[in-house]
Amino acid sequence: MDFREEYSKKHTLVENAIKRILERYNDCPATIYEAVKYSLFAGGKRIRPVLLLSAHEMVDGDLDESMDLACGMEMIHTYSLIHDDLPAMDNDDMRRGKPTNHKVFGEGIAVLAGDSLLNMAYEVFLENSLRYPDKLLNHIKAASIIANAAGIHGMIGGQVVDLEMEGQPAEPEILHYIHTHKTGALIEASLRAGLALENVENEAHTAIAGYGKRLGLAFQIIDDILDVTGDAAKMGKKTRSDEAHKKVTFTVVYGLEKSRRMAEELIEQAVGELDYFGKKAQFLKEIAYYILRRQT
Ligand code: IPE
Ligand code: IPE
Ligand code: MG
Ligand code: MG
Ligand code: MG
Repeated sequence: MDFREEYSKKHTLVENAIKRILERYNDCPATIYEAVKYSLFAGGKRIRPVLLLSAHEMVDGDLDESMDLACGMEMIHTYSLIHDDLPAMDNDDMRRGKPTNHKVFGEGIAVLAGDSLLNMAYEVFLENSLRYPDKLLNHIKAASIIANAAGIHGMIGGQVVDLEMEGQPAEPEILHYIHTHKTGALIEASLRAGLALENVENEAHTAIAGYGKRLGLAFQIIDDILDVTGDAAKMGKKTRSDEAHKKVTFTVVYGLEKSRRMAEELIEQAVGELDYFGKKAQFLKEIAYYILRRQT
């Protein structure tokens, strides 16, 4: 199977699984159901769940077992985007090619839609782990990796510093903290959680974490670059948003060319970490180059 086909196959699996999970909630107040559904199905790339499934598959895992973790990860990511777009944060009007959640449902419901998705993720993780009593520890470990990465030691920590540093002089160390946390943490956790479901050697955990850290940072460097050079119509979100908010970004600190080179180097190093897994790492290697090339 070629890369595109395999990505699209996993993307479809995730799409269908999220749909099935959401149906279990259709008896809740209509407004919140619609608001959650609106953002979940606005057309994201689903990169984090695809990474989680692929990491699990690489260590011979059964995708049915990791699917709920993958879907929960996408719910946490989607919540982070709804809140990231709020007027109190980045104040953006477009996301995934559609008006942002608060533009359609109002700020109060958008806050609650984010909260709902975050909570739903843990509902899904816990229910799913009960289906695997023999592997309960592995499932708890995977959920715990994701919980840490989503919290104040991870994504939220990064978002806090991202906000605090608006308009401040950009220091490379702070920039590195922001990017590895606000974006890197969930990407690395997706990969680590996929491995945590199976009993693998310590070296495997080290290799996947090395890959994930570099991939996650490169992902946000490319996001910064696309904010300057990208096509808003293709990306489904406004460009030049960082400049408008005086954000600390790679393009501000290093310029476009150097940022691009840094992302390329990180991707090469990330791919190198995967040599540990031999041929089974082929898809994750290709996804790293896709992240580098991406225009959306
Ligand atoms: C956007 O993430 C926010 C960042 C962390 C840079 P994605 O680029 O993965 O957005 P979707 O999920 O495809 O919409
Ligand atoms: C977003 O970073 C990170 C999270 C949502 C956690 P950005 O603010 O750069 O993402 P975009 O550009 O709005 O997608
Ligand atoms: Mg932001
Ligand atoms: Mg933003
Ligand atoms: Mg951005």
